[in-house]
Amino acid sequence: MEKLITLEEYIIHAQNKFPGATGDLSQLLRDISLAAKIISREVNKAGITNILGLEGSENVHGESVKKLDLFANEQWINALSRSNITCMVISEENEGIVRLSDKSGKYIVYVDPLDGSSNIDINASIGSIFSIYMRKDVSKPLSESVALQPGTEQVAAGYVLYGSSTVMAYTTGLGVQLFTLDPSIGEFILHEKKVRIPKEGNIYSTDEGSYLFWDEALKKYVKYCQELDPSTNRPYKARYIGCMAADLHRTLLQGGIFMYPDSSRYPNGKLRLMYECNPLAFIIEQAGGKATDGKKRIMEIEPTEIHECTPVYIGSEENMKKLESFFEG
Ligand code: AHG
Ligand code: MN
Ligand code: MN
Repeated sequence: MEKLITLEEYIIHAQNKFPGATGDLSQLLRDISLAAKIISREVNKAGITNILGLEGSENVHGESVKKLDLFANEQWINALSRSNITCMVISEENEGIVRLSDKSGKYIVYVDPLDGSSNIDINASIGSIFSIYMRKDVSKPLSESVALQPGTEQVAAGYVLYGSSTVMAYTTGLGVQLFTLDPSIGEFILHEKKVRIPKEGNIYSTDEGSYLFWDEALKKYVKYCQELDPSTNRPYKARYIGCMAADLHRTLLQGGIFMYPDSSRYPNGKLRLMYECNPLAFIIEQAGGKATDGKKRIMEIEPTEIHECTPVYIGSEENMKKLESFFEG
């Protein structure tokens, strides 16, 4: 029988490869896994504990917030406060930066504590997404500008998917590792090392109900996906879970393309650069895929606001190339 490797063991093993490593990033990943386990437990009993339903307030973007969003946000902030290595957290659920008690902490963490929250009430997949940066200059006071770094500066990123089982994918720039939570022992178990996204896939994923709001080039590309041509595996299948972490998890494993474009309804797209698109772009690139805003690499965008939106196109190399050929006209 193959030996089970826990996230804990894997982290130690990975850290030992770097002789000078302080262990701080390893500790941070452990803290994150704790938040993930607590949220996973709560998600599983959400129906029974009456946590479902609208919380009544709105988040900083004017979207209605569900109780579980707030619970998840609290868990992330508590977990990141444990080890004094994170100086600030930027969360979808907080308008400004959240300064943690140890102002000398060297990491900055962005988080979407609960992604796909409209899926909560229907028992469909939800997730958490995180992105970690170094605080470059410890002498500078903690502010938004200190946190605004392009995605290429991420030291680690990942997501947790609370699906039919709970999985966690993360990268520190050395490929993507995938773990599955065994709730009976409370451990994330290594599922796959150095995950690779298929070079090409036959799934496209987007909210096609917004078709009329799209640019011509995108309309044409989606029509291309629907055309009959068995030699190129078309028509593609359409899949859209409405939870970017879940849609990206499928894309990572099965290939294809996920798109949340700019449109006449959302001129800058709807998804957030810093805690949705950058971390998932890092994961997909590390697995051999691509992520752009339609023109440039997502991770090279210079951010100007912590909550800014960007259009995003992300997936298998060949599907991305084909999309780009439509955009180039
Ligand atoms: P969140 O629940 O964190 O607000 O994120 C939901 C996001 C994303 O996960 C998903 O891909 C997208 O919103 C769905 O948006 P539409 O309902 O516009 O399709
Ligand atoms: Mn989200
Ligand atoms: Mn969210």
